[in-house]
Amino acid sequence: MVGGLEFPKHLLYPGQSALCLFCAAFNGRNDVQHLKAAGLRDVILIDNDQDKLEELAAWTNYPAYNVDAFEMIELYYSEGQHFDLVICDQWTGMDQQIHGDYIEKLVAITKCHLIMGICQTYIESQGGRPPGSYYWRSNHNGGVYWRVLSKMKL
Ligand SMILES: C[S@@+](CC[C@H](N)C(=O)[O-])C[C@H]1O[C@@H](n2cnc3c(N)ncnc32)[C@H](O)[C@@H]1O
Repeated sequence: MVGGLEFPKHLLYPGQSALCLFCAAFNGRNDVQHLKAAGLRDVILIDNDQDKLEELAAWTNYPAYNVDAFEMIELYYSEGQHFDLVICDQWTGMDQQIHGDYIEKLVAITKCHLIMGICQTYIESQGGRPPGSYYWRSNHNGGVYWRVLSKMKL
């Protein structure tokens, strides 16, 4: 685990494609702003909060869709679409859906790195850390991390 790293920025390169799920509530502070700063141009934003999404789309100029993230995972999976990076910053109460119910489909639509928020309470409910690299984010709710599953390096 790398301590104190807010986002695994070392995994970002300008030429990558990225699917950013659950991206809007804080104007992209947790994730999208790092993609923008790293120079990524091929980024899709997904969130179901229309107002926040419009705010985010306005300054990033990334295409943004006000749709259910789980429906989009199903759609991209069924179409066999891939993204270099898939990023999930769901609310902490949704960890089971991301790290349990949808994990295989998320892995399937990821070409390089799947980057997901995960909280300590969920980790404990699983009896320990699911596989991956962990990057500390904050002490919120007993600890929040980015969990990264890497399929290949660019
Ligand atoms: C932790 S916040 C994301 C914060 C964001 N990454 C940022 O840095 O601004 C979780 C987000 O999930 C969105 N959300 C919750 N359920 C969703 C769903 N089923 N489909 C799409 N977005 C959803 C919320 O609107 C909220 O913006």
